[in-house]
Amino acid sequence: MAAKVKLQKFVDKLPIPKTISPVKRDKKGSYYEVTMREFTQKLHRDLPPTRLWGYDGMYPGPTFDVMKGETTFVKWMNDLPTKHFLPIDTTIHGAEGTLPEVRTVVHVHGGKQPAHSDGYPEAWFTRNFEQTGPLFEREIYEYPNLEATALWYHDHTMGITRLNMYAGLAGFFIIRDKYEQSLNLPTGIYEIPLLIQDRSFNPDGSLYYPSSPDEKNPRLPYPSIVTPFDADMILVNGKVWPYVEVEPRKYRFRILNASNSRAITFKLDSGQPFYQIGTDRGLMEKPVKMNEILLLTTERADVIVDFSGSFGKSIVLKNVFKGASPETTNVMQFRVTVPLKGKDTSSIPDYLGKINFLSRNMASRTRDLTLVKVADEYGRSLNLLDGKMWIDRISEKIEVGTVEIWRLINTSTDDHPIHLHIVDMQILERQPFDVAHFQTTGKLKFTGHAAPPDPNERGFKDTIRAPAGYVTSFIASFGPLTGRFVWHCHMLEHEDHEMMRPFEILQKKNSLKNRLIRMISP
Ligand code: C2O
Ligand code: CU
Repeated sequence: MAAKVKLQKFVDKLPIPKTISPVKRDKKGSYYEVTMREFTQKLHRDLPPTRLWGYDGMYPGPTFDVMKGETTFVKWMNDLPTKHFLPIDTTIHGAEGTLPEVRTVVHVHGGKQPAHSDGYPEAWFTRNFEQTGPLFEREIYEYPNLEATALWYHDHTMGITRLNMYAGLAGFFIIRDKYEQSLNLPTGIYEIPLLIQDRSFNPDGSLYYPSSPDEKNPRLPYPSIVTPFDADMILVNGKVWPYVEVEPRKYRFRILNASNSRAITFKLDSGQPFYQIGTDRGLMEKPVKMNEILLLTTERADVIVDFSGSFGKSIVLKNVFKGASPETTNVMQFRVTVPLKGKDTSSIPDYLGKINFLSRNMASRTRDLTLVKVADEYGRSLNLLDGKMWIDRISEKIEVGTVEIWRLINTSTDDHPIHLHIVDMQILERQPFDVAHFQTTGKLKFTGHAAPPDPNERGFKDTIRAPAGYVTSFIASFGPLTGRFVWHCHMLEHEDHEMMRPFEILQKKNSLKNRLIRMISP
């Protein structure tokens, strides 16, 4: 049963998560320590404080704001209670049996970090590192920060990511560089990160997460909680439907849809456009004027909004995604009530920089991978990557530096946000096909034209929308790091329920290191 809490909109001020400072800094980089804790926090004026889990006891977690090329070291520590306060589903892989201690592992989403610091789902650890997962490698993670873009960090624990993240374990990780700073974009207090998540509440203020949407399923011995859950309120930076007072000038917003599964189409009710300057992976070549921006979960948009000429007005950031409940059609409110301080000298440059796009003839291979919906042993729907489960043998092994095209053939009924760790993807096209024909013959019969990526997808992406009934093709150069990583649907309920697979980026066969190994091995 869904919670029945009604809350007034636009009564709380938008919080800006504080920036975290390093505990020390030296030639090798900056060292941070972050502790995951349980705490309570007010998420709305009229809601009792909510029990949450957060990095450094905050929701969202503190923002990392670092420079490209400066290595960031983080000791992520788990000081959470020993029992989860959200309903764990022990029928799914990674959560079998009982979880005696709360497991966590942290992933910097979109970052290019070595495998030992990537937050592999089986590299989890419990309180004080008392127990560790089978692939746990180290306590201090290392991030080389190779590109300027807005990333985020979040939990990635096998089988319970959706619960750990719903409990509050998420924050921004922003990387900057000198080039971007030279572009004269709105900065300082005129650059605002917006971490957007949906949540539902019980009347006592506690988080509501469904424990048995499949309670009618008599075959299920445990409560099933792996159906994508769209909650009924929208929070921005940890407040339900907040407002922010702004000056009549340009602002830069780093928008992140960090919901468990919800897709959001952003639109300003004033009818004014967003000037989108960047994707998940940094700046695009040119700004694009967007009236609406669709972000599936984990996708980001770097946008500029110009409030000049709107003094005295209130502008609502809406969610016009089809099928959104009336409540969730609102995100937050901008009140253009602060007198302009000085002059707005920031600009929206016509040109943002060169992107080295990959071309089809660079690809050494095309892989066809299905996104397929089946039923699990309890009759619940289960979405799989290429029909394989987590424990199946690794099938995507790619030599570092190789360019491949992947065609995601989506025969399921959902639009999945597909994310590859470490790898920059470039969308080639989306083309509708005859699903029934494919299911019976295994052959693709296209039913319409191939559409190029949307204007705001013409850059690199770390997550790609793969709509139901379409073949979505992307091209990517695998690297620059080697090792075992994961690719998955970022709808957390899908990810936790088998829609995640390991893949491996292999060393070059004739690399010096491999040649030496061959010489010394008998
Ligand atoms: Cu944002 Cu593999 O995750
Ligand atoms: Cu999915």
